[in-house]
Amino acid sequence: MTDTSIENRPSTATDNAHIAGTKRFFAAENIHAYYGESYIVQGVSLEVNRGEVLALLGRNGAGKTSTLRAIARLASPEIRQGEVWLDGEALHDMVAHEASIAGVGLVPEDRRIIAGLTVQENLELAQIAEPIGWPIELLYERFPRLAERRKQEATTMSGGEQQMLAVARALARNVKLLLLDEPYEGLAPVIVQEIERIVREIKEAGITTIIVEQNAIAALKLADRAVILDSGEVVFDGTAEKVLGDEDLRQQYLAI
Ligand SMILES: Nc1ncnc2c1ncn2[C@@H]1O[C@H](COP(=O)(O)OP(=O)(O)OP(=O)(O)O)[C@@H](O)[C@H]1O
Ligand SMILES: [Mg+2]
Repeated sequence: MTDTSIENRPSTATDNAHIAGTKRFFAAENIHAYYGESYIVQGVSLEVNRGEVLALLGRNGAGKTSTLRAIARLASPEIRQGEVWLDGEALHDMVAHEASIAGVGLVPEDRRIIAGLTVQENLELAQIAEPIGWPIELLYERFPRLAERRKQEATTMSGGEQQMLAVARALARNVKLLLLDEPYEGLAPVIVQEIERIVREIKEAGITTIIVEQNAIAALKLADRAVILDSGEVVFDGTAEKVLGDEDLRQQYLAI
């Protein structure tokens, strides 16, 4: 059950590192992650309080997706050093399906909607095992477009509708930490607004969220705090207002 690739993990629950890790609802502490020999995530630390929305920003190739994948404990990139804690549980000791059971919900950029299944079947499949989150009827209330299309084969829907399904599917699980990788990518402004409304509702429901977005302004409008990555390292950690008000910072690292 444990991932032997991680070094320097605490050996007992009473180690100082453990105490530090459980202090926050979510904390990634000094994570170093590799694709094979490519060293990509270079000592990233992130903290998110319960119910907060964190915008994780940075230029193309800065390491945002890699950081989300590492947190979700996908097989690559491999964390070789550092710790990841969620609600007192050591994610760094878990593989992806264990992290999912522990409450990590990753909505990847490519959405991973299952072909050949209807919208309803995609949602039912998400609830095939515990822990179950929002009931499907509640999801349909929050995502009326999905309710209209419940019998449609999911991969025949528009990009925006598939994005809604990807988010709904994460909420169908009992998600404690929602990881959204570029949820607005490639979507028309009217659909972006609808996804924004949904993310706001998710925030009101108290779900802790990390949102990665190229559309930094849109992400910052929703976020409480922001972390900016550059070449796999954290170059800024502060309030969303600070980023919105700091033109130099935006130009240097976000090109906006
Ligand atoms: N599977 C992989 N194998 C090797 N290198 C990879 C792999 N995936 C990503 N990388 C490299 O890791 C670095 C960070 O990529 P990542 O996808 O995390 O960036 P990003 O911040 O999400 O960028 P974007 O905004 O373009 O999505 C890039 O240099 C990329 O080429
Ligand atoms: Mg990315």
